[in-house]
Amino acid sequence: MTLHEEYMREALSLAKRGLLTTRPNPMVGCVITHGDKVIGRGWHERAGQNHAEVNAIQNVYDTLGEKAKSVLEESVMYVTLEPCSKTGKTPPCSEAIRENRIKKVYIASEDNSQDGFAKKQTDIEIETGLLRDEARDINKGFFSRIEKKRPFITAKMGIGLDGGIALASGESKWITSEESREDVHRLRAINDAIFTGIGTVMKDDPSLTSRNSGYDENEVIQPLRVVIDRNNQLSGNENIFSEDSDTLIFVNKNSNIKSNDKNVFIEQSADLSNLKNVMHHLAEEKQINNILIEAGSGIFDALLKEDLIDCLVLYQSPKILGKNRKTFSKLGQSDKKLSTIGFKIDSVTNIGLDKKITLSPNKE
Ligand SMILES: NC(=O)c1ccc[n+]([C@@H]2O[C@H](COP(=O)([O-])OP(=O)(O)OC[C@H]3O[C@@H](n4cnc5c(N)ncnc54)[C@H](OP(=O)(O)O)[C@@H]3O)[C@@H](O)[C@H]2O)c1
Repeated sequence: MTLHEEYMREALSLAKRGLLTTRPNPMVGCVITHGDKVIGRGWHERAGQNHAEVNAIQNVYDTLGEKAKSVLEESVMYVTLEPCSKTGKTPPCSEAIRENRIKKVYIASEDNSQDGFAKKQTDIEIETGLLRDEARDINKGFFSRIEKKRPFITAKMGIGLDGGIALASGESKWITSEESREDVHRLRAINDAIFTGIGTVMKDDPSLTSRNSGYDENEVIQPLRVVIDRNNQLSGNENIFSEDSDTLIFVNKNSNIKSNDKNVFIEQSADLSNLKNVMHHLAEEKQINNILIEAGSGIFDALLKEDLIDCLVLYQSPKILGKNRKTFSKLGQSDKKLSTIGFKIDSVTNIGLDKKITLSPNKE
């Protein structure tokens, strides 16, 4: 690993400190070096607050005082995302970098939502692409929203040894171990929204909040709960309406469910003819970067058919659900040539009594 990569790696790990808090902004980290010494570190903590570059520059002033100005002129910055050049809730970072006459800036990944820091700065040496893949990987949701105009979609399923997701009765809550369920609470915490199907709401009445995840509870922002109720099945008394978190229900024109002044929002005008439109709406109108799907086969199959699953997380327990089990896909040959729908296994880990299998679409 080169020294430059080492500094960028440190910037990446600083960025990850914002895992639970930066949404809808991306996670960004920044390291400033002078000679072979790191003199400033910063990361973006919350939307609306200072960006990583400004925090790192401030860190240099905090340690060096008045000397900082001349030292910064001889310094190199490593930042995980292209510095912003537009005024948002805070002034553009490009100005802070220019004002402090930083000599060289290494940028890991470009940001298409900005207007080209590299093109605008003629007096600063800029190198882009150092650990680009790693930098894109930590902000998959942000890049999906900006570039594909939809969130990064993770589908999670708890399954038995024989692939079932529920008993014939529909009972599914206790298929997996406590450790897996705790891991799901962590998955919920790192997603901006949880999408479930009306079938799951009517059968399981889940709360869909993140609880006892092991993360600092003060940092966890409860994900937005999202359901489509196109046939007016909700009464308004289900657990997804609890005040623990906000809830967005997509309904048709005749729905009786109403928005309240607190946590329930009704969307009556979105095009519900396919899930791609719904996902587009969530990205564009609600700035959702990452969404977790916790639903049964109805929604899972609809997402599969529309090629909308970016990541599949299976928690497989060593329990047998038997012949009448509900399977997680009911697709038949007529739906799509089934052999063309495939995933590749990215990782398998043991978790409690279960296995956690993480997969991504196999596009080959
Ligand atoms: N093991 C697990 O991880 C897990 C997780 C969740 C659920 N489950 C189990 O799964 C079972 C429920 O499965 P399910 O298939 O009935 O429920 P679901 O997937 O939660 O919801 C299915 C419903 O979604 C609606 N829908 C389907 N396609 C749609 C589309 N393109 N756009 C909008 N809405 C669409 C349909 O209702 P309308 O036609 O009325 O709109 C459909 O009946 C339960 O037994 C539950 O316990 C297991």
